[in-house]
Amino acid sequence: MTFGVICVSDRCSQGICEDKSGKLICEMLSEQGKVKEYIIVPDEAAEISKALVYLCDEVKADVVFTTGGTGFAPRDVTPEASKTVFDRDAPGISEAIRLKSLQITPKAMLSRGVSGIRKSSLIINLPGSPKAVKESLEVVLPVLAHAVEVMSGNTLSCGGNYGKGGD
Ligand code: MTE
Repeated sequence: MTFGVICVSDRCSQGICEDKSGKLICEMLSEQGKVKEYIIVPDEAAEISKALVYLCDEVKADVVFTTGGTGFAPRDVTPEASKTVFDRDAPGISEAIRLKSLQITPKAMLSRGVSGIRKSSLIINLPGSPKAVKESLEVVLPVLAHAVEVMSGNTLSCGGNYGKGGD
């Protein structure tokens, strides 16, 4: 699998603080495949969507993760920017992240992160803190390979043999 990672943060983009969350995503993905590009952008919708389009359409990453900008702060616009580039929504992924995360902290309901498909790339918003990144990524990692396989049109391992013992 190939990945793109976008850190969405005004402060990290200005060099005021270090991006620990984006780096953690890269680290956690290293066993799953190759992180082809890692980009830091400010909390600006146009810059977020431009980075997403670049990673999906030009880099052609199988999965693109964003971290940050999913909350209730006035400048948190990552979900809105992401939705403008989706061809199709993939709500189950963000539902699963919130469901599992709520077992850890009620603050999980404060992430408005969304997921969706653009062309043959899957886009997943993660919250901004390293703790939230770790907890959220652990939820989705087990299904990523299958998601990518199905996006490419291979549904054979999907239990497509309904009624024939498919798993
Ligand atoms: N999800 C998990 N799993 N663990 C967390 O600690 N923190 C929450 C939430 N999701 C958290 C989490 C908090 S405190 C906030 S404000 C929101 O994510 C939004 O974070 P963001 O604005 O940095 O994206």
